[in-house]
Amino acid sequence: MKRILFLCLGNICRSPLAEGAFRTLVTAKERHAEFQIDSAGTAAFHIGKPPDPRSIAEASKHGVEIASQRARQLHRDDFRRFDWIVAMDGSNLAEAEALRPKDGAARVVAFMSFVPGTAIRDVPDPYYGGDEGFGEVWQLLGAGMPHLLAAIDAAGDGSPRS
Ligand code: 4NP
Repeated sequence: MKRILFLCLGNICRSPLAEGAFRTLVTAKERHAEFQIDSAGTAAFHIGKPPDPRSIAEASKHGVEIASQRARQLHRDDFRRFDWIVAMDGSNLAEAEALRPKDGAARVVAFMSFVPGTAIRDVPDPYYGGDEGFGEVWQLLGAGMPHLLAAIDAAGDGSPRS
């Protein structure tokens, strides 16, 4: 079992879309059973809430259901419970690394490092912008997910650090 956690700030805009996009990709490949997939936020603002309606609408446009997700905050135990923590931006990545317990082996990576041919380093936070920002997030997620999956496959099973 490969355990993948998508991480953003609020766990209501970007990481719910990332969770839905990755689940859709591995389901299409009939590889869903190999993965445990979840998402979380570094902040506590939105714990227990469903995704932002604009994220739900963007996912729906692509036939992906994310409305049943509920926001939660990143916990120290996530570094033991997941093999990969995939951060939407550099700030999420830095906050995660600051929380890592000594025995937490999760590999924390920047999602944008899997998107080829772009200088963009962060998945832009669409929360304070217009609807088009959610389309841009979806597009970046779609461009990077196959490469993230390839990296996970290349790392093999179990602890990616071993
Ligand atoms: P997310 O977007 O990190 O992609 O879920 C945000 C959601 C909420 C806030 C900021 C970003 N907020 O400040 O409440």
